[in-house]
Amino acid sequence: MLPLPVLEQVRDELTDWQGGMSVMEVSHRSRDFIALAQQAEADLRDLLAIPASYRVLFMQGGATAQFSAVPLNLAATDACADYLVTGHWSQRTIAEATRFVRVNVAADEAASRYSTVPAQAALRLTPGAAYLHYTPNETIHGVEFPYVPESAGAPLVADMSSTILSRPLDVSRFGVIYAGAQKNIGPAGLAIVIVREDLVGRARADTPLVFDYRAAAEAGSMQNTPPTFAWYVAGLVFRWLKREGGLAAMAERNRMKAEMLYDAIDASSFYANPVARECRSWMNVPFRLARAELEPVFLKESEAAGLANLAGHRAVGGLRASLYNAMPAEGVEALVDFMREFERRHG
Ligand SMILES: Cc1ncc(COP(=O)(O)O)c(C=O)c1O
Repeated sequence: MLPLPVLEQVRDELTDWQGGMSVMEVSHRSRDFIALAQQAEADLRDLLAIPASYRVLFMQGGATAQFSAVPLNLAATDACADYLVTGHWSQRTIAEATRFVRVNVAADEAASRYSTVPAQAALRLTPGAAYLHYTPNETIHGVEFPYVPESAGAPLVADMSSTILSRPLDVSRFGVIYAGAQKNIGPAGLAIVIVREDLVGRARADTPLVFDYRAAAEAGSMQNTPPTFAWYVAGLVFRWLKREGGLAAMAERNRMKAEMLYDAIDASSFYANPVARECRSWMNVPFRLARAELEPVFLKESEAAGLANLAGHRAVGGLRASLYNAMPAEGVEALVDFMREFERRHG
């Protein structure tokens, strides 16, 4: 979801953004657009309290492009990088990374069917690794790290696609944070990269221009035409977040929404969430029905009741509710009411 006030502003400004044309029609090098781009970065810096020693890049290719950009920028061809595997997206990350770097799987939660995260003490880290990569929130499995891993001196790299901006964050713990925009930020295609300055400028010589952190940093993320519309919407979302009270307020709201749904699931043997309690995601809540044959019925009836997008990802099936920032508490209440009513009729 995107916040309704943002969508309304986009609608109102669609044909006339600051005088006569759409934001999609202005030059990205125009004074007005550059001001927009700088304001968006400043607002994101405010929201996340990003230290001055970090660069903020607005890149393209979604989070998937970063699966390759990270090794290309941070690892020499003969280097080894540590990866934690906690579900679908960390597996996809490694599938790309192995094309560019020697991957050491420092932990793999396959044995729990990706319903847990590894303990710090269980990580098999490589001395001198180029970096340690992990996925703080696994969007499909609904598993979220309750702690920030210690990386034994290697830069810590995090794919925060489905958790960024859901709560305050200590950016200084990380070497690189990246996120596809289409969950808590804005339209798909854009990726936000927050990179510590000393990690900029180390890309391999054959790194494509659009993947190179230094090229992006030096050109204000305009080494080629940026996705201007996505950048504009992201900027409006950052403004909305500030008006709503910033990330502390978001955290409180998100914690409450997630608790409401997990409580409803746990209170009934009709529904089940497979994830260990201490690492349940605030953003993505997968659940199953004890009688799996009722899941298609649940989906059909929930959709008819106006509750959209509740199918689990095709990789795992079942059901999943995503509770991103823009989902109001009333949306979760409506789901919980529907679940109780569905159980009453079918339980
Ligand atoms: C955690 C995570 N990483 C990566 C991706 C892939 O993002 P994109 O489609 O922007 O490449 C997703 C998409 O849902 C995701 O949830």
